[in-house]
Amino acid sequence: GVKIATIGGGSSYTPELMEGFIKRYDELPVREIWLVDIEAGREKVEIVGAMAQRMWDASPYDVKVHITLDREEALKDADFVTTQFRVGLLEARIKDERIPAYYGMLGQETNGAGGMFKAFRTVPIILEIVEDMKRLCPDAWLINFANPSGMVTEAVVRYGKWDKVIGLCNVPVMAQMIEPELLGKEADELIYKFAGLNHFHWHKVTDLKGKDVTMDIVEKMYAGDETGMPKNIHDIPFPREILEQMKMIPCGYHHYYYQEEETLAHALEEYKTIGTRAQQVKQTETELFELYKDPNLDYKPEQLGQRGGAYYSDAACESIASIYANKNTQLVVSTKNDGAVPDLPADCVVEVSAYIGGQGARNVAFGELPVAERGWLQVMKAMELLTIEAAVTGDYDTALQAFTINPMVRSGKTAQRIMDELFIAHKDHLPNF
Ligand code: NAD
Ligand code: G6P
Ligand code: MN
Repeated sequence: GVKIATIGGGSSYTPELMEGFIKRYDELPVREIWLVDIEAGREKVEIVGAMAQRMWDASPYDVKVHITLDREEALKDADFVTTQFRVGLLEARIKDERIPAYYGMLGQETNGAGGMFKAFRTVPIILEIVEDMKRLCPDAWLINFANPSGMVTEAVVRYGKWDKVIGLCNVPVMAQMIEPELLGKEADELIYKFAGLNHFHWHKVTDLKGKDVTMDIVEKMYAGDETGMPKNIHDIPFPREILEQMKMIPCGYHHYYYQEEETLAHALEEYKTIGTRAQQVKQTETELFELYKDPNLDYKPEQLGQRGGAYYSDAACESIASIYANKNTQLVVSTKNDGAVPDLPADCVVEVSAYIGGQGARNVAFGELPVAERGWLQVMKAMELLTIEAAVTGDYDTALQAFTINPMVRSGKTAQRIMDELFIAHKDHLPNF
């Protein structure tokens, strides 16, 4: 049987993950699941762990859910390691969001100043996990969900020297779920090609005859139809001229870049009234854990759909099943480029369509991007590389370079002040600096 170790097991997403494994049991015979957390998450992992066990007990399958604060015990001989931890929990995210906003800049989980600090906190931990894996489960695959997912995956490959890794996001899953509906088609009647970086990708779609239907989907988006946008992103129409020109569909996070003025104004207004996204989801999380405490609840409650990461298990469990059973399913993953996106170096991590099988990801070549998108992409990858390097070395000047090149940070002395304040606010979680 298959042994799964899940780091950050106390996440409220754990029932989503269980549901995904239960659905796929026939092709992925899971035997044991180890939910790993830390002292700060003890109560959470105990509550959601008991809930996870009830889900299995209500299924026809005999699977044991172990709860532990001992990562080594969980990693020993694991077949798959999934990562869904949040260093500093939602309190740290509130700081990422509020401190830049105080100075009129974007604070967001994976973008701008906040996203870079989430990387600073997360990269050292993922590299510790990789070192443990080298000793305890050298044949295992690492399936990363911890944000910023693309940067965390890049750190695993570049600094951890570990290639058996797949980085995931639910954004492409949601797009591929909703768009066929817009065209009145089934999912298997469309062919998708994604390319870019995590939370910074574009995609194109053709039908089975090879006819490009990307702009037909775009038309539906402007007709006001549901676009498959995650709950945490403010959904406004993209500037139409830009989409007409590039003939690709951007991801929701592109709103921050193509419409910085509008999205930033909206975010800052929300911070003043209903609070930042982290403050909002704290409430959702509290409600979810109240539900999870109910000894009669043995299925994923629908309230989990309020979180931005809905459908995460469709990516995570399908990747694992595809590797395990060599299914060669096409998914969108963060993985080593290897030429799929020729506008970026071959050895860096990109988010692309790929066939996932026993050997990992075989990327679908996307080809060169239009001039504007190439420019964005190269700047964003440079920002990511600087951020990861700073996270590993603890070098202040490199961190400042990352801040300065990030399009969501207005460069200058205010940017440096934001960075300095974030260093102080997060000092307990930044051992390298
Ligand atoms: P959360 O705040 O519930 O944290 C999950 C758990 O991680 C907590 O129980 C916490 O105690 C634990 N943790 C913290 N540090 C740890 C460590 N060193 N080792 C083990 N466990 C540790 O987080 P959440 O809101 O459920 O989100 C979990 C993660 O998934 C975050 O990093 C979030 O950004 C990410 N996420 C990714 C996507 C995606 O598309 N890739 C979508 C949603 C969420
Ligand atoms: C999105 C993304 C995640 C993101 C999350 C936020 O869909 O894919 O990477 O960080 O959802 O969700 P939340 O509910 O925590 O704001
Ligand atoms: Mn994501």
